[in-house]
Amino acid sequence: MQVPERITICEVGTRDGFQIEPDFIPTESKVEVVDLLTEAGVPRIEVTSFVSPKAVPQLRDAEAVMAAIKRRPGTRYAALVPNDKGASRAVDAGVDAIHTVVSASESHNLANVNMRIDESLDKLAAVAQIATRAGVHLQCGISTSFGCPFEGDVPIAQLERIVARLVGFGARGIGLADTTGMANPRQVGTVLERLVPRFPGVEWTLHTHDTRAMAIPNILVALEHGVTHLDASIGGLGGCPFAPGASGNVCTEDLVHCLHAMGVATGIDLDRLVAVSRRVEQLVGRPLPGQIIKAGPSTRRYPVPDTVAGRLKAS
Ligand code: COA
Ligand code: ZN
Repeated sequence: MQVPERITICEVGTRDGFQIEPDFIPTESKVEVVDLLTEAGVPRIEVTSFVSPKAVPQLRDAEAVMAAIKRRPGTRYAALVPNDKGASRAVDAGVDAIHTVVSASESHNLANVNMRIDESLDKLAAVAQIATRAGVHLQCGISTSFGCPFEGDVPIAQLERIVARLVGFGARGIGLADTTGMANPRQVGTVLERLVPRFPGVEWTLHTHDTRAMAIPNILVALEHGVTHLDASIGGLGGCPFAPGASGNVCTEDLVHCLHAMGVATGIDLDRLVAVSRRVEQLVGRPLPGQIIKAGPSTRRYPVPDTVAGRLKAS
């Protein structure tokens, strides 16, 4: 199997996860989680989003969170924005990168940001100008890239048209998001085979949700197609408030464990990451879907049972 030597993970739990928590996570707890992720060596963190506080009240404290986190040089702190207002707020708050959002399907875009796709793209042109002027990295994500919970299949030609517009605005990174876990590995391969050669120089990120237990299989196919950037969420938190049936992202510690087991470097300290996940479980007050937090890493060993030990000695 062809795998890259190194993968860059962007942690999105404090945005994709905390946005859908039923209870408001206090600002100081959000800051604590971002700081713990930084200390665990996570290279990129999508800290929060600068969206309408009426649409996503859980993240209404975006400015306060950005102002309070301890920033480690070399770590990239990003925020999600849907429009120019969000971009200006994000730049004023000192983000290193702006992540934008538009959907590949009209109905999800209307449900999520109350705009048609072309209206969103016009707003994102303004976002790109704000990002360029501020010298902030621009990565544009496309929700429902592999299927829409309302419309079903999304034609690749539609995805390609949106990518072309975003690249035209100066986006250096493109994120393909499987918002409600509809993608399958073969489809991920087909989409990447079509898009990657068409847009040379683009940094591709795969944003997966494990709604149907296909996140890691999809990621493995993406790695074989040369994708080196992945979004993931601590503990497997996450989900879009405006997509029915949405559930958590691929779990960061499970993904890091998988990559390290295959000899792929991430720069992340897995033990520390698992400790962050335990802390997040305390904060949200329930167990999260991650597996490694329960099973331990595959290097874990158990004592040999006495009966077996006796037979081993005898033989
Ligand atoms: N940050 C804060 N406030 C914003 C904002 C932003 N980025 N964008 C718009 N607003 C405010 C406007 O100033 C206006 O405020 P007012 O009512 O006090 O005058 C209000 O929101 C409505 O503005 P409008 O441009 O008409 O927006 P809308 O109501 O059509 O909503 C979005 C559009 C994009 C702002 C909203 O749907 C949104 O924030 N969606 C985010 C969805 C999301 O985060 N989904 C999950 C992640 S994928
Ligand atoms: Zn998501």
